[in-house]
Amino acid sequence: MSKTIVALDFSSKEEVVDFLKQFDEPIYVKIGMELTYACGLEIVKTVKEMGHNIFLDLKLHDIPNTVKGGMKNLAKLGVNMTNVHAAGGIAMMKAAKEGLALGAQGQSPLCIAVTQLTSTSKEAMNEELGIEGEVIDCVVKYALNAKAAGLDGVVCSVHEAAAIKKACGPGFLTVTPGIRLASDSVDDQKRVATPSYAKEQGCDYIVVGRSITKSKNPKETYDLIENMMK
Ligand code: C5P
Repeated sequence: MSKTIVALDFSSKEEVVDFLKQFDEPIYVKIGMELTYACGLEIVKTVKEMGHNIFLDLKLHDIPNTVKGGMKNLAKLGVNMTNVHAAGGIAMMKAAKEGLALGAQGQSPLCIAVTQLTSTSKEAMNEELGIEGEVIDCVVKYALNAKAAGLDGVVCSVHEAAAIKKACGPGFLTVTPGIRLASDSVDDQKRVATPSYAKEQGCDYIVVGRSITKSKNPKETYDLIENMMK
């Protein structure tokens, strides 16, 4: 399985199909809220029929019973990976796993947790969310909760991956967005890292959107990035 997950941040099925036509081999893609809310879950079927692997990034966060039911239905789509917010707590994360096992035909999708969003600053976490201390300590605590609930890993910043691996063990997956090539513009991302640095930090998967989708030759850029992660 490839290490690069391409974020399909498009708003129509046509754009997605046009983009994916460039790839003859199956790749790993991320379908998030933007695309799902524009096209419905039908888009998952379309991308799957084209042969690609899917990380369905809908970040569930609700009472355990509702998350269990939601995950049961998402697992039926045959996606490879999905996620929840760790802030929902251990019981909710366990319920997510149970739901996935109930709905999956065959192997359950991987389930990972969003720790603190990388857009959350220390000030916002302390003053708005009422969580004291440093962001990294909360991120590691949430990762440990995800592990205790039986989840497979977390979404985190490249800069947090090593601390998470140290606390949760090497087999606990880290999936990291905020990736840019040295030659790219940073766009709205605050703390970026190159694919090579992500690899050095032990990240298992990198999520890359605009560096690939807005590149002059997306397939070439994808190959370059995937080679850096090998
Ligand atoms: O275009 P870019 O590479 O910045 O896209 C990154 C993708 O990863 C987007 O789909 C974005 O929503 C997602 N993401 C992120 N930071 C997080 C969680 C998800 O950039 N903390």
